[in-house]
Amino acid sequence: MTPVAKPLLEAVRGTRQARPPIWIMRQAGRYLPEYRAVRGTVGTFLELCYTPTLAAEVTLQPLRRFELDAAILFSDILVIPDALGQTVQFETGEGPRLEPITPEGLGKLRPDNVIHHLAPVFETLERVKSALAPDKTLIGFCGSPWTVATYMIGGRGSPDQAAARTFALMQPQALARLVDILVEASIQYLVAQFKAGADVVQLFESWALNLDDRQFAEYVIAPNRRIVEGVRTQIPGAAFIGFPRGAAANLPAYAEAVRPDALGLDFSMPPAAANATLPPILPVQGNLDPIRLLAGGPQLEESTDRIISAFANRPHIFNLGHGILPETPIEHVERLVKRVKGG
Ligand code: CP3
Repeated sequence: MTPVAKPLLEAVRGTRQARPPIWIMRQAGRYLPEYRAVRGTVGTFLELCYTPTLAAEVTLQPLRRFELDAAILFSDILVIPDALGQTVQFETGEGPRLEPITPEGLGKLRPDNVIHHLAPVFETLERVKSALAPDKTLIGFCGSPWTVATYMIGGRGSPDQAAARTFALMQPQALARLVDILVEASIQYLVAQFKAGADVVQLFESWALNLDDRQFAEYVIAPNRRIVEGVRTQIPGAAFIGFPRGAAANLPAYAEAVRPDALGLDFSMPPAAANATLPPILPVQGNLDPIRLLAGGPQLEESTDRIISAFANRPHIFNLGHGILPETPIEHVERLVKRVKGG
């Protein structure tokens, strides 16, 4: 019996689909009342991430409502610092708070603890995999080392990552050590995600902006490349979507060195510039501005069509250029998915 094709995975692997397959970054989340209901049954966000029955349930929720082509594991990029033993908390409405790491504190991190600590995440993947229709793709993920390091060093999100960028210049050896720890932890974590059923994984480099070209090469390109190579040594042909948000003119160098199967584009990347600078066979993912989805109106269909035609000559996976905003009306998501499917 031939296995059922997964259109999104096919597109990631380089086969253009008649209509672009679609998933939405942060598709499981606060814009859905059913997510808020489940979230209300647990005390903390991390508890939700580490309870496989509930995490699997919220992973599947968006696929019940919308004709999406993929489920993305419900978890967070900051489970890695948590698994390493750093104190991580999510303050409702305020975002993550970590106890900032110091050069001296690096020795206390526990890379050997990561797989054991994250066992519930692998169970979530197994549960989702067994419930998912065979034509749907299961996406796993992790945060890329620089992005995760910005939270570990700064202790919270910041618009300019000043704490981490200063640390990089004043404590370069400590940062190199932290990046090494994160590369090794991420390889183990992603290999285990593939073994638990992930079809493809996305590397979220959410803070690839604000770095000059040498820092981009050292902190973005090199660690992501090590992760992709390290995972593919253990899982030959492991499929990756690389998403270096804000990489702009550094995108071609990232694609060439990291070698993801597909490249995620943020919404500031003009499709024409992507087409002009990226290899024509490289699949791209993106890149509707989440504010356009939130705002709705005729511009939503118009800008969706514009993105689909701009990428008509290469494999394309439709997505937003960053995560969906919690205030987004559900009806706009319905309209978007319908339009991408040709309706
Ligand atoms: O995409 C999905 O649906 C899967 C789940 C997912 C979450 N976070 C759930 C989440 C994924 C893939 C992430 C990735 C993530 N987490 C990133 C990279 C992508 C990006 O947006 O840049 C980053 C930087 C984080 C760190 C993080 N987690 C922040 C900054 C916040 C707070 C900001 C916010 O949106 O609230 C979180 C919390 C978080 N992660 C929530 C969800 C659904 C909201 C928490 C809640 O429900 O109370």
